Amino acid sequence: MHDSEISRAAAILRDGGLVAFPTETVYGLGANALSEPAVARVFEVKARPRFDPLIVHIARMDWIPRLTAEFSSVARRLTDRFWPGPLTLVLPKTAAVPDLVTAGGPTVAIRVPDHPVALELLRVVDLPIAAPSANPFGRISPTCAGHVRDQLGSQIDLILDGGPCRVGVESTVLQLTPQGPLLLRPGGTTLEEIEEVIGKVEVPHAWRAGLAEQVLVSPGTLPRHYAPRTALALRAGETDSNWDDQLGSSVRVGLLAFCPGDQTSRFAQVEVLSHTGDLREAAANFFEALRRLDAAGLDLIVADVFPEVGLGRALNDRLRRAAHA
Ligand code: TXA
Ligand code: MG
Repeated sequence: MHDSEISRAAAILRDGGLVAFPTETVYGLGANALSEPAVARVFEVKARPRFDPLIVHIARMDWIPRLTAEFSSVARRLTDRFWPGPLTLVLPKTAAVPDLVTAGGPTVAIRVPDHPVALELLRVVDLPIAAPSANPFGRISPTCAGHVRDQLGSQIDLILDGGPCRVGVESTVLQLTPQGPLLLRPGGTTLEEIEEVIGKVEVPHAWRAGLAEQVLVSPGTLPRHYAPRTALALRAGETDSNWDDQLGSSVRVGLLAFCPGDQTSRFAQVEVLSHTGDLREAAANFFEALRRLDAAGLDLIVADVFPEVGLGRALNDRLRRAAHA
């Protein structure tokens, strides 16, 4: 990436424009977080409801006291260990953060992305950048520049192409409350890694139970999200044929498989996420594979449920939301 392209992107952001940029998780749709009109354009372009707050991206820690009123020792331990990286912290906000960014709430979500292009852009622009995933609201998140171009291209001032995203699922969103840390969204930093640093994290009960229904603790955790246009059914294992019981043989079914298995000719198209059963590899391929299946003109996509550990938690969360009719 040329310095001149970063400078152009920074100039657009300073002027209140929108720039899509790569992060290690997914592509973000960025705007100056301190400008309410700029942030308003993000909501418009995404057709995102205004009750769903945005994550503010920074590269320098000197922004922290300007954005949050309270940075505890727990926050410090987490950021020392995981920033830059796929962990977003929800903290009490200062008056400098526009209400539109936080959906009128008293907290702001902040993260330092681990991608050279994102970090360079943030350093050059020297502003906090509010950025949701660069997809229309509720649809599949973009993991390469082409996805952004296809879905939002004409409405964005510039797309920075930094290649495919390494992690492939969004950041983990963790709120630090007076009662203790609360997991709002499982993501690229695993619960196990976080608990190793700060001890027990509260996880909404519904997730522990592995259910789709959840309390709306984080406004963005709407039941239906990350969704393909094709109907999606989950299968708990290769022997689980519940999804197949009432389907005729003329129904074209695709399979989103975690690892290679005994896939029969039942499937019109099969996408294997990891040949070695590696959750990291599966996460990196996940949204792209879902997109390919969605474009294949199928009647139904069947997806394997992942083991509920590590990145499997984030992947299952995305699957359950995508399957929620
Ligand atoms: O990996 C990521 O986090 C990507 C890249 C671009 O950084 N961004 C992303 O943004 O996934 P978005 O808007 O698609 O998801 C942000 C999530 C939503 O679930 C939102 O509700 C939650 O973070 N969130 C943001 N601010 C919050 C706040 N103040 N309190 C609670 N949840 C918040
Ligand atoms: Mg999103």
